[in-house]
Amino acid sequence: IKVPQYGRKPQLFRYRGFVYPDFVVNDVKSIHQFDVREDDIWVVSFPKSGTTWVQEIVYLVNNGADFESAGAATIEERFPYFEWIVPGLKSIEKMPSPRLIKSHLPLTMLPNQMKDKKPKIIYIARNPKDTVVSYYYFLTKFVIEDNIFNGTFDEYCQLFIDDFVHYGPWWKHVKEAWERREQDNILVLFYEDLQENIHKAVWDIAGFLNKPITEAQVNDIVKYCSFETMRNNKAVNYDWLKDVGAAKEGEHFMRKGQVGDWKNHLNKDIVDKLDQVVATHLTPLGVPIRDTL
Ligand code: A3P
Repeated sequence: IKVPQYGRKPQLFRYRGFVYPDFVVNDVKSIHQFDVREDDIWVVSFPKSGTTWVQEIVYLVNNGADFESAGAATIEERFPYFEWIVPGLKSIEKMPSPRLIKSHLPLTMLPNQMKDKKPKIIYIARNPKDTVVSYYYFLTKFVIEDNIFNGTFDEYCQLFIDDFVHYGPWWKHVKEAWERREQDNILVLFYEDLQENIHKAVWDIAGFLNKPITEAQVNDIVKYCSFETMRNNKAVNYDWLKDVGAAKEGEHFMRKGQVGDWKNHLNKDIVDKLDQVVATHLTPLGVPIRDTL
C-alpha cells in the first residue's frame, strides 16, 4: 500500500484484513509457527492503548510485587515485544517460563498454537479518539527516517479512519478481542476503566492470573504504576530510545496519560467520523467504548 506520508519507502502491508509494518509481514511464517506455552502470559493491544501500564501491573502481580526486580531491567527486557525484531522470536522462544510477552498483533494473527495451549491473554482497549492522538504524537518522537510519519495531524487521523495505520483497522482489532471475551483464558480490559478504578483493575488482573495478593500489595502497585511515577521510572518510560538515538531528545513517551485529551486535538469532522466508526462496528456488539469519564 503506498501512502507517501510514511517516509521514503512504503511501510504498510495488508495481510488477512489488517495493515502491518514490514517486520511483521517479513516474519509471518515464524509468527504462525511460534512455540506457545500454557504458562505464558500475553498482554495484547492495538498500539497506544495503555499496554505499558498493563504490562507493568502484570509483571508486579506475577512476581509478588517485587519492585526491586521491576526496577532492575527495562520493561522491554522483562516483557518483550513479540513481533518486534529485538529480541526476536527465536530469543523469546528460549526464555524461561513463565514468559511475559507483549504483542500488538490482533488475536487472529497470534501463533497457531494459542488455540490449543490457551495461555492467559490480557487484552487492553482504549477509545479511538485518545488512541489516535496518542499514536500520532508517539510517531513524531522517532528519528528513524523510514518509519516516521511526515504528514499533518489531520492527515494522520484520516489515515486512521481509512485503516491505513499499522495494526489497523483499530475497530477490527478490538472486535476480535471482544468476541472472545467469554473464553476462560482471555481478559478484556479498557483503559478508561483503569483510569476510573485502578485498584479494581489490579485485583481483577490478580484474580485472572490466579495470583495471591494482599491489599497492601495492591496499594503499592497502584502507586508504583501511577502515571507520574511511571513517567519518571527509567525501567518503563522508554527514555532508553533516546540513549540509542532512536527518539528525539526532550520528548516523553509517557505523554499525558488522560482520558479525553482528544478534546484538545480533534476537529469536529474527525470526531464525527470516529463516532461513526464506533457506531458502525462496535456499538452493535455492545462494546462499551467511552471517551470521557
Ligand atoms: P497518551 O499518549 O495519551 O499520554 P501504550 O503503552 O500502549 O503505548 O500506550 C501509551 C499511552 O498510555 C500513553 O497515552 C501513555 O501516557 C499512557 N500511559 C502509560 N502509562 C500510564 C499510566 N501509568 N497511567 C495512565 N496512562 C498511562
